[in-house]
Amino acid sequence: MSTLTQSPAWLALRAHQMVMAQQRLRTLFQQDSRRFEKYSLSFDDILMDFSKQPINQETIDLLLALAHQQQLKYWIDRMFAGDKINSTEQRAALHIALRGDQPVYTDGEDVMPAVKRVLSQMTRFVSAIQSGESAGYTGKKITDIVNIGIGGSDLGPAMVADALKPYWTHGVIPHFVSNVDGAHLSQILQRLDPATTLFVIASKTFTTQETLANAHSARTWLLAQGAGENDIARHFAAVSTNRVAVEQFGIDPDNMFEFWDWVGGRYSLWSAIGLPVALAVGMENFHALLAGARELDRHFATAPLDKNLPVMLGLIGIWQINFFGATSHAVLPYDQSLHRFPAYLQQLEMESNGKGVTRDGERVDYSTGTIVWGEPGTNGQHAFFQLLHQGTQTVSADFLAPCRSHYPLGNHHRMLLANCFAQSEALMAGKSAHAVRMEMEAQGLDAESIRRLLPHKVFVGDRPSTTLLFNQLTPTTLGALIALYEHKVFVQSVIWNINPFDQWGVELGKQLAGDILNDLSREQLATAHDASTNGLINHFKSHH
Ligand code: F6P
Repeated sequence: MSTLTQSPAWLALRAHQMVMAQQRLRTLFQQDSRRFEKYSLSFDDILMDFSKQPINQETIDLLLALAHQQQLKYWIDRMFAGDKINSTEQRAALHIALRGDQPVYTDGEDVMPAVKRVLSQMTRFVSAIQSGESAGYTGKKITDIVNIGIGGSDLGPAMVADALKPYWTHGVIPHFVSNVDGAHLSQILQRLDPATTLFVIASKTFTTQETLANAHSARTWLLAQGAGENDIARHFAAVSTNRVAVEQFGIDPDNMFEFWDWVGGRYSLWSAIGLPVALAVGMENFHALLAGARELDRHFATAPLDKNLPVMLGLIGIWQINFFGATSHAVLPYDQSLHRFPAYLQQLEMESNGKGVTRDGERVDYSTGTIVWGEPGTNGQHAFFQLLHQGTQTVSADFLAPCRSHYPLGNHHRMLLANCFAQSEALMAGKSAHAVRMEMEAQGLDAESIRRLLPHKVFVGDRPSTTLLFNQLTPTTLGALIALYEHKVFVQSVIWNINPFDQWGVELGKQLAGDILNDLSREQLATAHDASTNGLINHFKSHH
């Protein structure tokens, strides 16, 4: 048994869960007319309502005791101080510096001058592209940006660019290619004019197989369309920590945007990895995105834990995962602009906290990072919500919605929000057998039909959710929302005593793919693997 699961705070929560599991949420609401006020928090224009979670004041006190026991405040301070909290890679985790305005030291050096230098380089580059001063090889203005990257070098900027579409007012359209499947690049290039297209090759390491393959194919395409070798410099930029590899690829060093090993890939959208976003929405809006995150960082670093949004969001997740046995977490944005948010959070949460050993290398005996998934409402309602309402799994859910839409269209936004609120209400309150019976009787159904149908129509309720409402999806609010989830992930990692900033679990597959690529290119049949893998390789070779 680990020290965590035997600790006083953990054991107290386990005992308390047995009590709370007997409570009906709708009864808790009936008993306390101030439940919403008591169990919701605000930060700027973000309202976080967690009153539909199975909690009372004692739950919060016990969760906070767990946070104190696990030294949450100490770890928050260490992150902000630039300590090397990513211990397996001996690195700091300083995404907060990318949007900061105060000196931050790591290895005795203030990182802020370098951060500001790259932001200034981005400003010059963005202005030159947007004004047409830096044009394509025929002299025409660049109109399309293709970001080639994967994982953190794709999901963050792609999600943000999409979410901020109303701010694409600079005549530059961003596109994102990540998959090594040739379909991805080909389908995007089919629509583009090489003379007006700029490729941004985004890769922290500049060694990622998928990204380099796509980058080489993009280069080949440009040359095949009439551009010369000398034109490459006008059409390629790179964002990376690996200057040598960027130069080897042939990208003009003036078009290379640096970032640093203290920025994790999935935490990098605030760095020059955000370049396609800045090109589409302008530097002013990019700065607003950073400012939103910076304010949330301040809140995280200074607010008391019980009033701290990321802390409470993280602790509620712990309550669900470790004490109520939630098997997954649904992220349900009632905002079409956030349709890539669940995919972005999948990497953030699952790559960060999908770990099976503690910081000290001990195997854990408790659940850590959960499965994150989701789709925008209302689409999800007509697909998987059935399982949320009546299935046998415990799924916790976050609803996210703006009060104002960027796209006022008739009564659409009211309808959207009505559905959002209706779903969390239905999940929480359910529908009792008595209510179902009354309804069917009123409809005039006979006794036999009522008996037969009743069990199918009952909703047990008590399905937990948290709702995040914000005024409008502006760059500032989006920055704050993303930072909220980044810090939530950190809070949970501290409770679980795991390192959220490494990702060793992705290495084995990469290594084996290299070997198998060689097998696929050889004449001889593969024999070096297990029978299944050999069989699949050889089947592919004979059908390719
Ligand atoms: O394979 C996982 C990963 O290393 C992610 O952590 C990272 O965001 C992604 O690959 C891309 O890596 P890079 O930016 O170095 O190409």
